This record gives sequence, structure tokens and C-alpha cells, in this order.
Amino acid sequence: MCGIVGYIGNRKASDVISEGLSKLEYRGYDSAGIAVYNNGNIEIRKHKGRLAVLEESLAKNPIDGNLGIGHTRWATHGEPSDVNSHPHFNEEKTIAVVHNGIIENYAELKEKLINDGVTFISKTDTEVIPHLVSKFYKGNLLDAVYNVLDEIRGAYALGIMAKDSPNELIAVRKDSPLIIGVGDGEYFIASDIPAILKYTRDVYFMENGEVAHIEGNNIKIYDEKRNLVEKDVFHVNWDIEAASKGGFDCFMNKEIHEQPQGIKDTIERRLDSNGKIHLDDIKITREELNNINRIYIVACGTAYHAGMLGKYAIEKLMKVPVITDIASEFRYGQNFVDDKSLVILVSQSGETADTLAVLRDSKAKGARILSVTNVVGSSIARESDDVFYTWAGPEIAVASTKAYTTQIVSLYMIALDFALKMDTIDEKEYKKILDEMRELPEKIQQILNNKDYIKDLVKDLVAKEHVFYLGRGIDYGLSLEGSLKLKEISYIHSEAFAAGELKHGTIALIEKDTPVISIATQSYLFEKMVSNMEEVRARGANVIAIAKEGNKVVEKVSDKVIYIPESSDFVAPVLAIVPMQLMAYYISSMKGLDVDKPRNLAKSVTVE
Ligand code: M6R
Repeated sequence: MCGIVGYIGNRKASDVISEGLSKLEYRGYDSAGIAVYNNGNIEIRKHKGRLAVLEESLAKNPIDGNLGIGHTRWATHGEPSDVNSHPHFNEEKTIAVVHNGIIENYAELKEKLINDGVTFISKTDTEVIPHLVSKFYKGNLLDAVYNVLDEIRGAYALGIMAKDSPNELIAVRKDSPLIIGVGDGEYFIASDIPAILKYTRDVYFMENGEVAHIEGNNIKIYDEKRNLVEKDVFHVNWDIEAASKGGFDCFMNKEIHEQPQGIKDTIERRLDSNGKIHLDDIKITREELNNINRIYIVACGTAYHAGMLGKYAIEKLMKVPVITDIASEFRYGQNFVDDKSLVILVSQSGETADTLAVLRDSKAKGARILSVTNVVGSSIARESDDVFYTWAGPEIAVASTKAYTTQIVSLYMIALDFALKMDTIDEKEYKKILDEMRELPEKIQQILNNKDYIKDLVKDLVAKEHVFYLGRGIDYGLSLEGSLKLKEISYIHSEAFAAGELKHGTIALIEKDTPVISIATQSYLFEKMVSNMEEVRARGANVIAIAKEGNKVVEKVSDKVIYIPESSDFVAPVLAIVPMQLMAYYISSMKGLDVDKPRNLAKSVTVE
């Protein structure tokens, strides 16, 4: 996600900001830019690509000056490009703004501004802000900013400066992180602490709705009603490495904990004022949907596992059969894709070679391509007909966690929207499912709050050589993902089986104390699962069950139970994966392994 840095003091602002931005690289970005007040003007440099491109441009064309703002952009609205990079400015280039987050009502604000004669140059939601500040600016920057805050809706951390207020820097926070660093006669603003640790360890944490007004070496912080807020300075005593992980020991752990927010962003930002799903980047019409005779979901690894759950959702809601396959197999198989096919590709990175190859091949055969990806402007996003972006934020750890759960939620939203368009579900069912999905962040948080139980439980698994996972129906797809998480970061051999298939061979591997994780979230299959758990227990297996709160029967057929909050069968898997992610993480970390960078693996597999 985007990173913000700002500076006001006696140092060379461009140096402080570049240095700070380099410490925010871990957040993921596709372009970077800087604006500095210099000799009566705001000078701006901004470029698509790595920070090195910006640094090279600053080396060739340095900017002096002691007040500035900078940004690393992770594109959401408009592809990565020089013009879409931040800072954004008004027509006269007298106001500069950096923004992290999303302005939800930007389209309507933009239309009004255009009607007032304003010319926009970028495709971003952010650009409305400098134009609005400019509209309201009558010599008092703080007044203008408060006027703008009355107009905009969404999530934002902002850094704002104006040519005619050369001694002022304004920072705003609402639902996007922002801190203020306090130096000796100088202030810093940043999305995260590592950006400023080289200069100061004293910070103010901005709360939602707060506005910091820094004027020279004075700072005042106000709440949303413009009451003055008294704040304590917090002294940071972590090192940089720990701070960029937000206090977590590794990115995987951090990303597991970011799932409530990622899911919330993925769902809520697509709901219109009537609470209906609005798929802005998917243009497929009801007629086109009715013309489709086959749906494929194709992906690799974890994304493929998400696709398995997507198949279930589409079949249940749209009543259309779906073929799910692994991209590396699908591309060389007899796949029957044609111009009546809808091919849904799922990919966190949007760059996976096999998935991209399926995209190109299917497109050549005339299929409609819909991708579900986390990276704006990635190859898969660019080459697809329609895109649904998961708003998980950058995923750094090789083992995918928040991308997976947001992919499932995305596929569910697509299924819901399409099903309503095709009249295969009614409004009541649509609302019931959507309401339940909106409760997922809170329920995942409940699971995370009980993580110590899982930490304790896995102590017996650390020394094991084999762990098996069982599930039926949608839980089978989930068991594959649980097993993949464990093997890729703990190096424990693990396999997942459709529980009913076990007695056709694999049960021969079960012996005394073999750990078997049994996922039992599907009510209609519960009795069958109970039989399968009894089968393995009778052969000495140590059964750890994952079931819904309130299910007491499961305790009779297992050695330990991990409960997830009560929920429908439809959304339960999104909850049930979280304990399995935590199990894999705890085991890997207890074994002293590199959780984020497991051996032999790469985050993005861009070769066949
Ligand atoms: O970027 P993609 O989602 O296309 O990557 C696909 C797989 O390589 C990926 O999901 C992989 O299986 C995970 N890193 C495993 O945790």
C-alpha cells in the first residue's frame, strides 16, 4: 500500500524524504514522487518504477528546500504511470498533496469540479483533493483542509502543502496509518515509523479524524471538530527491522493479522449506498452472462485453492457448472475453451507465468477473461477483459495468507453479483449472504484473539514428520490449503485428502500418534466426517478437529478441537483457514526457520 513521508525543518527535505521512502519500500509500490517548496515554488519530481528512478532524477535535477512531501504509490485508481504518481497538484501547481487510501466519492466530486471548469490530468481518486483545497483556499490552509474534509468520504492519510503557506505542513488521518516524528525544531510525517527512525525516536500517533497543523517548529493537533487535542509523545525503542513489520516478528504473522482489514476493504469498498455490490471494473452484462456456457477458474498454488472455493460459490449461487484447474496442467490439456467461455484467473501477483499463459491462450480462443488479482497494473490485470482487485495490500511473505482469504471473498462477491443479475438467487438470499460476509472481519478477529490456544496446541506437532489434513466438500479444498501452508514453511511432510477417499489407500499410512487435522465445518457432511475421524482414531491417529462453536459432538471423536465462531456453511471456510495459517506459522517459528522466505520458493513465479 502507498507510503507517505513529509518533512519540515532545517535539513534538505528531498534527502530526508527519499531516505524515508526507502524505508517504506516493504509496503509495496509501483511509482514514487516528491514535492518540495523551493525558492517561491513547489517543485515536483515523480516517476513510475522503483525509488532508484526518482533518486536518479533528483541527482540530475536536485531540489533544495526544507519543506516537502513524498510518496510511494501502490496503484488502485489508474495504472502505474508518471502522471498517476503522487504528489498531485492543482492546476496552478500551488497546492501539493500525497494520499494513502481511497476517496470513495471521488467520481462525483470530480464531475462537479469538471463542471466548474477544472481540468484533471490523472486517473487517480486523489487528484480531487488538491483541486478542492485550491477551491477553498483563501489564505488559510487549515481552513481549506477542513472544508475539504467535509466533502470527501473514504480512507485517507494525507500530506498537504501550499506555495502561499511556505512554512506549513498539514497531515490528516482517517482509516489509513500516519504518525508524526518530533525532532529538534523539525517534524516528520510518515505512514510508518521506520521512515523517520534515522532522525528521531519520538512520535505522535495520529488517531482517526485528527489533523496535524505544523507551522515552523510548532505543531497543533486537532480532532475532526477542530478541537485541540493533547497528545503524549511516544518513544520508540524497537529497531528498524522490527518496526517495518509493525511490531510483528515476521511478515507472515503480520499479514495473518491484517486479514480482518483486507477482507473489510475488499467488501465494503464495493458496496454502494444501498448496500449492493458494485463491481466497477467488471463490465460484463446480464446478456453476456446468459450467453456463457462454461466457466473455468484457473490458477496456481494457494490461488488455485481459493478457486476451488470459488467454484463452490458459483455453482451454488449461479447454478452453472464450473471447471477448476491448475494453470500448468490446464494450458497443455484439452480444455475446450471457446468464445462462449468465461475464464476466471486468480493470482495475487498477477505475474504468474502459467496463469498468464492460460490467459493469453484462452483470449486467443475468444473467451472472456476475468481476473482476480492483488496488483494493479500487473500483466494479468492489464490483459484481462475485466478485473476484480483484492484489496489485501501488498503481501510480502512467500506463504500466502491475506491474499487467499481476500481471493475467496472476491470470488464470492462475483458469484453473488452475477447470480443476482442472472436471477438465480433472490434479493433476500443475496442480502443474507452479504450480511454474513460483512461479519467475517469481526469473526476472524475473534479467532486471532484466541491464538495462544493454537500456539499451545501445536507444541506437540513441531517434532512430527508427517501431518495429514482431511475434509469433505468445500472443506477438502480448505484442507489442501492448510496442508500447503504447513509444508511450505515448516518443511513437515503433509498431505490433504478428501476424507471419504482415505480408505481407498492412504489410511495405510495412519499409525499411532499420526496427527490428523480434520476440518468439519459443513453441517450436511458432518456425520460423514465423524465416521472418517473415527476410522483414523481407531488406527491410533491423534485428531485435531476444526469445527463451529457449539458443536459438542466433535469433542467425542477428536483429541483436541479448535472452534471457529458460529457461521453458515458458506462462509465458515474463510474462518477455518485462519487457525491453520497460525498453526503453520507457530510451527515454523518454533523450529527456528525463516518463516517469510522458505527455502526453494519465490514470491512470484514468473517462469514456467
Ligand atoms: O501470485 P500468484 O497468486 O499467481 O501465485 C500463485 C502461487 O505461486 C502462490 O499462491 C503460492 O502457492 C503461495 N505463495 C503459497 O503460499
